[in-house]
Amino acid sequence: MDRIRIVGGKTLNGVIPISGAKNAALPLMIASLLTDRTVTLENLPRLADVSQLVRILSNHGVDYSIDGRRQGEGSEAGQTVHMTAREIVDTTAPYELVSRMRASFWVIAPLLARCGEARVSLPGGCAIGTRPVDLLLMALERLGGQIEIEGGYAVAKAPKGLRGAEITFPKVTVGGTHVALMAASLAEGTTVLHNAAREPEIIDLANLLNTMGAKISGAGQSTVEITGVARLNGAKHHVLPDRIEAGTYAMAVAMTGGDVLLEGARAHDFQAALDVLVQSGARVEASDAGVRVSRNGGPILPVDVSTAPFPAFPTDLQAQFMALMTRAKGVSRITETIFENRFMHVQELARFGAHIRLDGDSAVVEGVPVLKGAPVMATDLRASASLVIAALAAEGETMIQRVYHLDRGFEALERKLSLCGAEVERISAGG
Ligand code: EPZ
Repeated sequence: MDRIRIVGGKTLNGVIPISGAKNAALPLMIASLLTDRTVTLENLPRLADVSQLVRILSNHGVDYSIDGRRQGEGSEAGQTVHMTAREIVDTTAPYELVSRMRASFWVIAPLLARCGEARVSLPGGCAIGTRPVDLLLMALERLGGQIEIEGGYAVAKAPKGLRGAEITFPKVTVGGTHVALMAASLAEGTTVLHNAAREPEIIDLANLLNTMGAKISGAGQSTVEITGVARLNGAKHHVLPDRIEAGTYAMAVAMTGGDVLLEGARAHDFQAALDVLVQSGARVEASDAGVRVSRNGGPILPVDVSTAPFPAFPTDLQAQFMALMTRAKGVSRITETIFENRFMHVQELARFGAHIRLDGDSAVVEGVPVLKGAPVMATDLRASASLVIAALAAEGETMIQRVYHLDRGFEALERKLSLCGAEVERISAGG
């Protein structure tokens, strides 16, 4: 297994190109199951989760091809892929494939809407909490799907097709909203979603679906209306920039000091996180080129943060922000309201000498003047990013084990950081 070695203490200066968003790429790719025409996605990030989803979609009959690199295109440019599900050859998504990536459960929606049947393995638990799928199944049932749980699989049927309905989510769910958007696009009649998720990735999926011929209005707001159509066409779509990747590097710069342009990032996609960074003493400037983050000289100030659905502070940046707060001048309280067990990074951050106490759904972080490099272990994707941030500011060497978690969601992490002056290298399994 690869490891990442970081020698801390360098400031970050330069430009970091922001990749296409993983959490948009996954539902956009899944939407290709809705049509027999070609869906072309530009700016698709090179990530382990994207490759894993390709395997799953191929199993259902999606043909996949990647364009070669064009002349003058930088090595950081995302990929352009063409996906065509001319015929769905298999409506089962097996345990071996789905258990490795939770978002792959979302294939249930296009399979049911297009083929009238789907058999998809339940995703099971994961490191950050129980993460049930009851609300996704509720949405499909409201649309007329009949669902049974059999042998660890959700078996869904809609022999006469889906029909529009009012769906009220008791809790904001990103996956539930994605599933409802895809299924309702091919349902007969009108669907109205209440308390829908408002994340930028929801808008990105709705934009693709509308280009394919769907009739969705209000995406990005709590109430969304979808008028179903009989069939969807192919489309070409550019994946939006990754706000979580951008937020992660913003926090890294706030941690080490320096001055970095997060090229292509859109400030309004992670404004809550940028506001918190400003309160912590960083400087943030948004422009057409991206978002520039700097901190020169001043201390890191403590800020209390609570995670919540968009547009509030995202749970996917909670671990990274906690890393920053370990060096703040004072005490901060970080509250996690989305996932019940998303504090796996706490014990690893303690290995750098951080002082963090857990108090129910909150972590109380008492800033320390110095962190010291240590051997640490990545536990989940965003927790791993928090270890990178701590390591960049720590004295001496840190060795991060199990970096496959990072490869799921951060494209060329060590390259992007090295180009800004960090001392970071990947040590491959054999090396
Ligand atoms: C998406 O997960 C993201 N994944 C997650 O990012 C992100 O942390 C999460 O949204 C919240 O922003 C992708 O987009 C691929 P939810 P999702 O349904 O859709 C509960 C990362 O690191 N819930 O919005 O699975 C659930 O337990 C990942 O990139 C139910 O109770 O999250 C949670 O408490 C990790 N029943 C809350 O809702 C359900 O049926 C929000 O979850 C569904 C969800």
